[in-house]
Amino acid sequence: MAEPLVLGIETSCDETGVGIVRGYQLLADAVASSVEEHARFGGVIPEVAARAHLESMVPALQRACAEAGVSLHDIDAVAVTSGPGLVGALLVGVAAAKALAFGLGKPLYGVNHLSAHVAVDRLEHGPLPQPAIAMLVSGGHSSLLRVDDVSYAVTPMGHTLDDAAGEAFDKVARLLGLGFPGGPAIDRIAGDGNAAAIAFPRGLTARAEMDKHRFDFSFSGLKTAVARWVEHAEADGRTIPVADVAASFQEAVVDVLTRKALDACAHEGIAHLLIGGGVAANSRLRAMVFERAARAGVEVRIPRPGLCTDNGAMVASLGAQLLASGIQPSALDFAVDSSLPIETVTV
Ligand code: KG4
Ligand code: ZN
Repeated sequence: MAEPLVLGIETSCDETGVGIVRGYQLLADAVASSVEEHARFGGVIPEVAARAHLESMVPALQRACAEAGVSLHDIDAVAVTSGPGLVGALLVGVAAAKALAFGLGKPLYGVNHLSAHVAVDRLEHGPLPQPAIAMLVSGGHSSLLRVDDVSYAVTPMGHTLDDAAGEAFDKVARLLGLGFPGGPAIDRIAGDGNAAAIAFPRGLTARAEMDKHRFDFSFSGLKTAVARWVEHAEADGRTIPVADVAASFQEAVVDVLTRKALDACAHEGIAHLLIGGGVAANSRLRAMVFERAARAGVEVRIPRPGLCTDNGAMVASLGAQLLASGIQPSALDFAVDSSLPIETVTV
């Protein structure tokens, strides 16, 4: 018998994603982003994102089916992000998924966005090492998780107390006049800068903070430190060395992320680290984590950048894993949950 065909829908932020997998083989990954519509605001505007999902949903479904060479009637199960995320945005994907599942008479899984970020690596690098530590870093989240089974046993270890890692990149990029989204711009220009030029603070790494916040993150102090540094330089009439500031800022973020992720591995006695979310595309993060992990004897897995950012394939991949684990589908009347707890993999 052919392996199940699973359709995944993702609309928690500004990407409308529709992915299709056969078993763990990725057949299609259609993504429409509204990021350009948010650029002039310097951040995602929820109502604009929701409206864009509405316009992109049917074309994305059609594109995914065409790319996979399947018809909607071939689908065996539907999975959709039910939270966490922007309520209005989530509603569009969940309404579409419910209509499809009901119309086709197929099971529906309402799933956790963060678990989907973990599950996606199954498509690229094979069975997930479990237990594993997962670090998810994007514009909306910065979390460290212990994953014993991505289908039902995900435990939060720490999260950001203020800005998400990607949000810090976006805000500092704005400050430096580099546009939105800021991550890719900072990554690029930092390549020409000196990462040791300015010693920016490493949030929540001081001994006194480690008792309570060993696996938590904080990036707002860093953001403020960059702003102050730029203000002082301007007040002195100096030209801002944008590449050096970008590289030093990036180094501070990446240093903290890799240190805490590997500390979580050591604490739990786990030698597998999975990284996902938009910031996982950062070239300095990739270089530093592989170098430090090799020294610590930890194996690191990061999906290719297109699978790190929000997409439908990650939701389809989690759906396939839920089916394989025999997890009960969701009832058709589930609601979206903007702050769905990490432990809730399926609603
Ligand atoms: O996962 P994602 O597409 O969407 C969510 O926020 O859920 O992540 C987008 C975030 C943005 O904040 C963007 O600036 C950041 O990921 N990002 C990067 C890089 N590429 C994207 N941050 C640092 N370096 C990058 N190369
Ligand atoms: Zn995400």
